[in-house]
Amino acid sequence: MEAKTAFQSKTIVTDLVLPSETNPINNLFGGELLARMDRAASIAARRHSRRIVVTASVNHVAFNRSVPLGSVVTIEAKVSRAFTSSMEVYMDVWIEDRESGECIKANEAIYTFVAVNETGRPTKVPELIPETELEKERFKAALRRKQLSLVLAGKMKPDDASELKALFE
Ligand SMILES: CC(C)(COP(=O)(O)OP(=O)(O)OC[C@H]1O[C@@H](n2cnc3c(N)ncnc32)[C@H](O)[C@@H]1OP(=O)(O)O)[C@@H](O)C(=O)NCCC(=O)NCCS
Repeated sequence: MEAKTAFQSKTIVTDLVLPSETNPINNLFGGELLARMDRAASIAARRHSRRIVVTASVNHVAFNRSVPLGSVVTIEAKVSRAFTSSMEVYMDVWIEDRESGECIKANEAIYTFVAVNETGRPTKVPELIPETELEKERFKAALRRKQLSLVLAGKMKPDDASELKALFE
């Protein structure tokens, strides 16, 4: 299976914030953003694996900045690391200033997807080659995040989380 670059999975989704998608103070509802990110990330994971992909976990979401009604929101998703059947997808969320067109970073999120076959069994994915400095940074930290996610899900013993333990040594 040929390794792929992060760039090959790059997925950009741009959409508006409409009234039905906001909370009572006219900002984008958090769950709506989570769903939009899930869609963008699943496309990135599919582009990397060329397989059916399912969301395995939402590892991190930071709602740093609210997204007002009428905003133009852009989600950029890229696979940051591929393991055996799972892929970490890193997303950056931007809001476009109406007058200047300048893009302001609003949020970040990290989801994990698993490639599966027609019966839902995990299946192998290609390795990921990080190219830019940021991609290399995200690639390096992904194993630690995978271990944390597995420990929290009760699927890994804390003692086996070598990368995570190394943080505290
Ligand atoms: C995700 C799923 C396929 C994993 O199946 P599983 O039987 O646990 O399979 P495995 O234990 O072999 O794990 C498969 C991979 O998922 C990873 N994984 C499983 N749970 C994880 C979690 N909580 N966080 C991070 N990675 C996880 C494993 O580390 C493994 O990765 P690797 O092959 O790259 O090393 C299965 O749990 C599933 O189908 N879940 C439902 C998915 C879904 O419907 N999502 C939409 C929710 S509405």
